[in-house]
Amino acid sequence: MASTTYRVCTLPGDGIGPEIIAEGKKVLAALGEKYDVEFVCEDHLIGGAAIDATEAAGGPVSALPPETLEAAKASEAVLLAAVGGPKWTDTRMGAVRPEQGLLAIRKELGLYLNLRPVRMFDALIDASTLKREVLTGVDLIIVRELTGGLYFGGHERTMGVEGAGVGGTRGEYARDILEYSEYEVDRVVRWAFDAARRRRGVVHSVDKANVLDTSRMWREVAHNIAAEYPDVRLEDMYVDNAAMQLIANPAQFDVLVTENTFGDILSDEASMLTGSLGMLASASLGDGTALYEPSHGSAPDIAGQGIANPIAQILSVELMLRYSFGMDDAADELAAAVTRVLDEGWRTGDIADESTPAEKVLGTAAMGDKIV
Ligand code: NAI
Ligand code: MG
Repeated sequence: MASTTYRVCTLPGDGIGPEIIAEGKKVLAALGEKYDVEFVCEDHLIGGAAIDATEAAGGPVSALPPETLEAAKASEAVLLAAVGGPKWTDTRMGAVRPEQGLLAIRKELGLYLNLRPVRMFDALIDASTLKREVLTGVDLIIVRELTGGLYFGGHERTMGVEGAGVGGTRGEYARDILEYSEYEVDRVVRWAFDAARRRRGVVHSVDKANVLDTSRMWREVAHNIAAEYPDVRLEDMYVDNAAMQLIANPAQFDVLVTENTFGDILSDEASMLTGSLGMLASASLGDGTALYEPSHGSAPDIAGQGIANPIAQILSVELMLRYSFGMDDAADELAAAVTRVLDEGWRTGDIADESTPAEKVLGTAAMGDKIV
């Protein structure tokens, strides 16, 4: 009997989802054995798979059935693969779409923080569009506020009226409100400081404090928190400069924390520093159960062929170990295993190139086995 048991709600979803999540579970089981922890994984339906099943059962059609949500809430963590595909592209009014399952579970779990690590695997450095010198040593995380700001402020679109912008009466008028409470900022920035303390001790707080009041408040909150963390260095950076610095000198960053819209853009920018979609994981955290997933979609073009890259899914397991279970040693060991497999030249098709010998190109399950 393992000394600790954790319940993990696993959501295979659609397309390559079932193939890659199997590899995530394989890795979790191997680490559980080694670290004397039992991970009890239970599969549930989400996305297109849930739509099909609820339709077949004749009940209300749903991309996130109530059983799935209950199971997620009752678990210590959720491991998701991906949802969606050409089968469920019904755009008629009221049609249920797979992506609704994703949005709903994020909302129901109250996931207010999104985390995306960007780490250079030296073995893949030449696949990047940037120079080797720029990429050497890149290992950063982007912490993005996820449920506030511009995307969740008021939205309005009307016919223009006098006083509504320049020339407001000549056509339509629209506005979106950017708002934050101190509380929303504090919980995200504080999380970034805690993470930095366990990493290299640097937080870059990214804002537009030269223009925006929300950013001025953000900056004050960050400085107040910094006073409680003498071991962490805080750097303020304007978002436009951050966009440049991520390309010019990405190795300077350890933890980059920012508001929702800036984070959306910067995290996509940063994720491309190190290349392939098949390598990128993310975590969404709240006060309760957190959710871990690859950054890519369900890759319907290669589904069912056993050739998908499981590494993004496996690296999402690394995040789970670190941020839900505090198992940093196991997480480090997993990251080292991925590094070693890549250093030995093993590839899946998406990260192979002309120089990769055919016998070094592995399928999904074989890559999972190698990492184990
Ligand atoms: P995608 O990420 O599924 O695929 C883009 C390209 O990357 C494809 O050529 C695919 O084969 C390749 N790819 C992605 N992951 C891979 C992996 N692990 N190994 C090897 N190759 C991989 O994005 P796309 O094609 O835009 O969307 C496909 C479906 O996925 C759509 O229904 C979309 O709505 C959904 N989607 C779901 C997401 C999620 O569940 N979080 C995120 C993005 C898209
Ligand atoms: Mg985005």
